[in-house]
Amino acid sequence: MPDPANTAIPLCRASELVDGGQAVPFDVNYAGQTCRAFAIRYEGQAHAYLNRCSHVAMELDWQPNRVFDDSGQWLLCASHGAAYQPATGECSGGPCRGGLVKIGLSERDGLVFWHSSYKLKTIEF
Ligand code: FES
Repeated sequence: MPDPANTAIPLCRASELVDGGQAVPFDVNYAGQTCRAFAIRYEGQAHAYLNRCSHVAMELDWQPNRVFDDSGQWLLCASHGAAYQPATGECSGGPCRGGLVKIGLSERDGLVFWHSSYKLKTIEF
């Protein structure tokens, strides 16, 4: 039986994540709360984070699934301009108080999977 604390959950096709392009949203249960999350591609690698700014617990998108700035080099929070590094989620500028919460991803056979963990689970319906 798979370990529910470390399960690979199908998220999207790998081709849906375009470098510096739109994010692919998904929902998770983080520490008992339903949260939005997003996956992006940056310099060829897929990454995912909770869609929750470390300044104030708000979603980053200035338009749905638009989390990159115009240069495609930073993840930008639309509310007050916190900037995060796309590869790590670390705070790079603005009013952030720490980094984004990173979610493990893997790619296999043209698909992207996110990985559950102790605090990060699928939504129960
Ligand atoms: S809520 Fe993100 S910068 Fe303030």
